[in-house]
Amino acid sequence: MHDSVTESLNPTADLGSAAAEKLTEVPGPRGETAPDASRSPVQDSDLLRAARREPVRRTPVWFMRQAGRALPEYKKVRTGIPMLESCFRPDLVTEITLQPVRRYGVDAAVFFSDIVVPLKAIGVDVEIVPNVGPVIANPIRDASGLDQIRPVDPETDLAVISEATRQLVGELGSTPLIGFGGAPFTVASYLIEGGPSKNHEKTKAMMLGEPELFATLLDRLADLTAAFLRVQIEAGASVVQLFDSWAGALAPRDYERYVLPHSAKVLASIADLGVPRIHFGVGTGELLPLMAAAGADVVGVDWRVPLDEASRRIGPDYAVQGNLDPAVMFAPWPVIEAKVREVLADGAKTPGHIFNLGHGVTPDMDPDRLARVVELVHEVSAR
Ligand code: CP3
Repeated sequence: MHDSVTESLNPTADLGSAAAEKLTEVPGPRGETAPDASRSPVQDSDLLRAARREPVRRTPVWFMRQAGRALPEYKKVRTGIPMLESCFRPDLVTEITLQPVRRYGVDAAVFFSDIVVPLKAIGVDVEIVPNVGPVIANPIRDASGLDQIRPVDPETDLAVISEATRQLVGELGSTPLIGFGGAPFTVASYLIEGGPSKNHEKTKAMMLGEPELFATLLDRLADLTAAFLRVQIEAGASVVQLFDSWAGALAPRDYERYVLPHSAKVLASIADLGVPRIHFGVGTGELLPLMAAAGADVVGVDWRVPLDEASRRIGPDYAVQGNLDPAVMFAPWPVIEAKVREVLADGAKTPGHIFNLGHGVTPDMDPDRLARVVELVHEVSAR
């Protein structure tokens, strides 16, 4: 499946698999978990090892949306500062990114930002409305709307992102930083709908009814996200995740035809930098092989497909990430414990496993329980 899918893509997808090969060639103690002094502590961390499908000391764990409203210390520093403004203040970005690392003992930090930050950086009129999400002042409905997506100049438009990342990586020491960006489809869905959407009807109407306009928009967004990721990697992020949160709304045929080439362009564009690339979406059980073939090293899986089955669908050349149902966090502790053990047992049958929720932390999750999950993952998986 993987090979035939790759062949049917645009040529950039080949670059993706070439880079995946390169990742496995990093010199290291394959088959061993002893520290490797020839690597930096970050490169030798369990997160990087799992992403490269090497043996780990303990299964690495982090949580999508680990920074944010579940933490009282986050609410405190964010008081009176709009979300997108906070993303352009390096001191705040650094502090908020570090908060969950201190609190939960996770194996990675994830850059505090948002998938719409690059849009803001090129002057798109976008706000993040509390309890709603990104809202676009002038939704893109025709060719004239495309003018809002001008080419990004990383040196100026993204200078603050670079500064924030550098400062943060300095503070993190041996904890790896995961950089991220929004995949073209998910970002386009906000731009076309004008805000969050359940059925993505306007987005699909453009995709199917005006495929050239849609392709032009996604191509521009691919360049924008590629630049956003590159800036983070060059400033010290050692893993990246491409969030295509809403890709699961698409049938595989439409995903492959209208969306995959643009995500493949993003992932191929950073292949030369040699950092592992995680590719994630929600409800993507039917898309997993395509999302892998788009140029990922690790495929994020939600809770609907067990990890061993997900791995069977994508083949042995990829690690997997996930996939505790976030809702389980609201059940009694013995239920959480049993489910965590289940995820770890499934993950142990894959070539590499990074523990995570199947989607993000929600605002009313109990931080102490998240910390306890981290402890449990480490304890159960210790080798
Ligand atoms: O994971 C992390 O901790 C890093 C920070 C991060 C944020 N957004 C911060 C944030 C990341 C990785 C994202 C990605 C993101 N943003 C995605 C993909 C991930 C996913 O959940 O599928 C999407 C779809 C968005 C768009 C977005 N931004 C939404 C849907 C929301 C939630 C709206 C709400 O209030 O319910 C946001 C706001 C947002 N992004 C917050 C944070 C901490 C909350 C802002 C606040 O404190 O009010």
